[in-house]
Amino acid sequence: MNRKTIIYIILSVCLFISISFSIYYYTQAEHYDQQIDEVTEPDSSLPAYHFVLIGEEMDHDYWRLVGEGAKDTEEKYDVFVEYEGPRRSNPEEQLELLDIAIKSDVDGIIVQALSDDFLPLINKAVREGIPVITIDTDAPESTRASYIGTDNYEAGKLAGETLVKDTNGEATIGIITGSFTNAHHQLRVQGFREIISREEGIEVVAIEESNITRVTAEEKAYQMLKEYPNIDALYGTSALDGIGMAQATASLNLTNDDLYLIAFDTLPENVELMKQGKIDVLIEQKPYEMGYRSIELMLDVMEGLPVEDAYNTDVNVVRIEDIIKKSEGL
Ligand code: BGC
Repeated sequence: MNRKTIIYIILSVCLFISISFSIYYYTQAEHYDQQIDEVTEPDSSLPAYHFVLIGEEMDHDYWRLVGEGAKDTEEKYDVFVEYEGPRRSNPEEQLELLDIAIKSDVDGIIVQALSDDFLPLINKAVREGIPVITIDTDAPESTRASYIGTDNYEAGKLAGETLVKDTNGEATIGIITGSFTNAHHQLRVQGFREIISREEGIEVVAIEESNITRVTAEEKAYQMLKEYPNIDALYGTSALDGIGMAQATASLNLTNDDLYLIAFDTLPENVELMKQGKIDVLIEQKPYEMGYRSIELMLDVMEGLPVEDAYNTDVNVVRIEDIIKKSEGL
């Protein structure tokens, strides 16, 4: 082999090696790019929107209905609904959940705004580009996009009007309210008082809070009836107050000939007590509808459609006749 041939062979080998390296690094780079694209591009198998709904109490029939309504929208719309709340009513925990939702940069937040303590975080979420809708209890002073739920003041008035009618304007009342500090319970009491204050024969002699538990509602109603034996009507503003009030009257061997009971929400246990003649009237709210429509409303907000300041779900007066008609499919 002469020198020229050797140089030629060496150069060919070098060329081959460099081409092989180029091909190798090119395919590696392509592969890497693909991996980056996979990480940065949205996963088309995930729903288009991730919303969080924060209620008052997970372990509660009323909130279960709100959650079910919201979750059921997943079948119709391209959304993932994370339904959350404290196990037992706890506003601080609700605020922590709201803070986590903001930090997680979810697409939208639906929250029950129990009091003014919720304003700073609601406004923070909106400042950070996360729309907020209030549900069940409103925070009209906040920058939330809209509210869906009962008009709580009007619901209180409806309870008052019903009581005035049923007692012919003669009653000595004890009130059990879910909470003295929560906006919706305050409104339900204020609306009620507005109506009964027009009646000379009606007086509220005591008001206590149940912290939305049936046990406390029962204890407070029991003490109240002991202290004011002239009470002949009880008004309960939260979903489990009716159960507590009915238990207290039963413990004192009072019947609904002695006492008129009006309470909130047509939960199965309340309806059962109505069938047993222990509750006279229930003010019905629409928790399932609140949950379902809150997600539809949030979708409108996401799509930039105009929304109203508040959407009030229906509130009805329910008596035993209505329960019977419903069970007969009428
Ligand atoms: C209220 C809810 C509350 C529930 C408690 C309902 O009447 O609308 O906000 O959490 O009662 O029992």
